[in-house]
This record gives sequence, C-alpha cells and structure tokens, in this order.
Amino acid sequence: MIALNTSAVAWVLFALISIGWVSYFVLNQLSARRELGSEVEMAPNRKPYYDDEVLEGRRLERMQILGVLLLITVVVGLPMAWAFEPSRQAGAKAGMTERFRWWGEELFKPTAELGFNCSGCHGGMKATGGQAPYAVTDPKTGEVKSVTWYAPALNTVFYRFSEEEVRFILNYGRPFSPMSAWGSPGGGPMTVQNIETLLVYLKSIQVQPEGCLTTDNFVKDADPFVCDGGTVPQTNKTDIQSAVDAYLTQHPGASEGEALFNLDLASGAYSCARCHTPGWSYGSPGVTAQGAFGWNLTGGATNAHFPNEQDMITFIKNGSANGKKYGVQGQGSGRMPAFGHLLTDEQIKAIVEYVRGL
Ligand code: HEC
Ligand code: HEC
Repeated sequence: MIALNTSAVAWVLFALISIGWVSYFVLNQLSARRELGSEVEMAPNRKPYYDDEVLEGRRLERMQILGVLLLITVVVGLPMAWAFEPSRQAGAKAGMTERFRWWGEELFKPTAELGFNCSGCHGGMKATGGQAPYAVTDPKTGEVKSVTWYAPALNTVFYRFSEEEVRFILNYGRPFSPMSAWGSPGGGPMTVQNIETLLVYLKSIQVQPEGCLTTDNFVKDADPFVCDGGTVPQTNKTDIQSAVDAYLTQHPGASEGEALFNLDLASGAYSCARCHTPGWSYGSPGVTAQGAFGWNLTGGATNAHFPNEQDMITFIKNGSANGKKYGVQGQGSGRMPAFGHLLTDEQIKAIVEYVRGL
C-alpha cells in the first residue's frame, strides 16, 4: 500500500518536473524572440546590464531565496528517499513475486496454451485434482495395460509438504507414476528458475483454511503453511465428512479409520491408500497398505517402529522430514506428507487405530 503511494509520489514529482521544464523552454523561446526584434537597434551583448541597485538588491535576494529552496529540497528530499526506501524495496519484492507467479502460471497452463499441462492432469488452473492416462507395465509379467491414474489436488499441497519437499517432487517427479521429473536436476525440461516460478504459482492457489482460531493464526509464509486450531478442506470439490460417509455407505461395517485411510480419490480427497496400497491410484488396488510409494504398514512392522501410539499420531500429523528421526529408529525422507492441517486430531487417531490393527 505504502509502496504504491511511493510510486504515486514519484509520478507526481516526475509530472511536475516535466511541466516545469516544458514551461521553462516555452517561456525562454518567447522571451528570446522578443529580444531578436530589439537586436536591430543594438546587439544583445551590448545592452547595458542591471545597475548595482538591482544586482545587489532584488536580484541577489532572488538568488539567495533560490539557494535556500534548493537546500530545503536536499535536506527534506534525501531523508524522505531514505524513509521510503523500505517500502520501495517491499514494492520491488512484491513486483518480482507477482512476475514469478505469472511466469509459473504460464508454465502450468494446458499444452494448447503453450504450457507444460500441469493443469491438464491436476484438474485445471486451480488444481482441484484430476486424472491422467498412463500405461503401467506389470513388473512380473511385463504386460502393459492402459490405466487412469488419479493426480492429487495441488491447492492444498503446501499444507502437507514444505517448500523444499515440493521442490524435490517437481525436480524428480514420482517414479512409476505419470508425474515425471520436471526440473533439470532430475533430468527434466525445466530450468531451476522455472521450478521456482511454479512454486510461487502453487502458493498463490492454496485454499484458505477453515476454522483457524483467528486469521492471524494462518501463517502463509510459514513452511509449510500453518493454521493453529483449524483444518484445511482437502479440496474445493468435497469436504472430508461426505467422502467418509460415501465410503461407509459402500462398505457397511467399516470403521471411520478405514474410510479415512481409503478416501475415494475421485472425490479429490487425499488419502493414505494412494501411496501405501499398491495399484490404488489407478483403480486396481492390491492388498491394503502393503506398500507402494509409501511403505508396507501391515504385519506389525509399523507397530514395532512406533511402540507408542502417540508417537505415530505425531508422525502422521507432521509427516517425515529429510534426514530426521521418526519412531524408534526410522529416518525420514520428507516424502511422507503431513496430515495435521488436513485432518482433525480425532480423524488421525481413528486412522492410527485402524493401521495398528492391520
Ligand atoms: C501426465 C500427468 C501429469 C502432469 C503433466 C503433471 N503431473 Fe503432477 N502428478 C501427476 C500424478 C498422477 C501425481 C501423483 C503421483 C502419485 O500417485 O504419487 C502427481 C503428483 C504431483 C505432486 C505431488 C502432490 C502430492 O501432494 O502428492 C505435485 C506437487 C505435482 N504433481 C505438481 C505438478 C506440476 C507443477 C506439474 C507441471 C509442471 C505437474 N505436476 C504435471 C500427474 C501429472
Ligand atoms: C505421498 C505419499 C504418501 C502418503 C499420501 C502417505 N504416506 Fe505414509 N509414508 C510415505 C513414505 C514415502 C514413507 C516412508 C518414510 C519416508 O520416506 O520419509 C511413509 C511412511 C509411513 C509410516 C512409517 C512406516 C514405518 O514403518 O516406518 C507410517 C506409519 C505411514 N507412512 C502412515 C501413513 C498414513 C496413516 C497415511 C494417511 C494419513 C499416509 N502414511 C499417507 C508416503 C506416503
């Protein structure tokens, strides 16, 4: 806001100075022409100059006043420039961010609009979740079949991953999935700066959280986004409860934890099964939680890694961080997302109880 005012002041000054110069030029021209006429009688350099009376009186005073005015300009102008410098810098930074957002948006667009078609797979420019055609090769038989793979909503991605983790995903993609490596570090077509512009664009489309204690509790610059005491609707398409209800209607007798673990991807919700159950993302699920991109959670290994249930709850709330210890002797990679901002504490507890019984 102040930054805008600063440029407004600068424009006014610029206009005043320009008008000043133009009027000076015009007036000078006019007076010169008048003088030309008088040259017929006497050359200008032979005209008698002001007498002492004027030179030491009126004229001297005028020059002194002019000097004082210029001095005031310097004395007031310099501190003013200094005072406005922070807001000018903030304005420059905001301008740069806005340009990065715009460049990222261009990259995100469909192929027909010369983008890289992130929007085509991820559900439009707001990335509310979509699908991607893909060919999977059976690792055992080598048989190839074409499938449709659910691409997650990205308008909540900064609530589950830190900026560094999203950068990693964009650079290296997700192996054995339609999400290819996009950044040059992973062998993809995009420069390091392209990836940075995409990160800025993705930040700009994140959904606003619901139920934050106050709006001050929503920290958009935090890494990842933080909202104390509230949760984020998983996508714009659905709220979690109706997806849970739909699952429970389809699977009578299932627990709420099971429903949350297996949330229907078509609804755009983000579940555990998408990473921990093989084949889940393309509609031919194998044994629940037997491990795919995320690890096998069945057969007691997980419980051995988390003898204390509360530790497991904390892990799922915060996700894993690269190099950081979790459970008894686990070391995270940053690829397990945080669910603390997407689900309530009770929902996470229900999931944990379900997983511990697998
Ligand atoms: C061909 C379709 C396709 C295109 C194009 C594509 N993605 Fe993806 N993306 C996917 C799929 C599918 C997944 C989920 C993979 C999985 O199941 O682990 C994914 C996962 C992601 C994730 C991880 C999200 C999460 O929370 O797990 C991010 C971030 C992402 N994509 C960003 C992008 C960006 C940015 C672009 C454009 C440069 C892009 N994607 C282009 C299909 C695509
Ligand atoms: C984007 C994919 C992804 C999703 C979604 C995901 N996980 Fe994970 N999960 C992982 C990965 C990868 C690991 C391995 C740890 C690492 O690399 O940091 C992991 C590890 C774990 C572990 C530790 C396993 C062990 O024995 O050490 C548990 C428990 C777990 N996930 C539970 C869940 C639950 C519950 C959900 C849903 C609320 C979930 N995960 C959703 C990818 C995912």
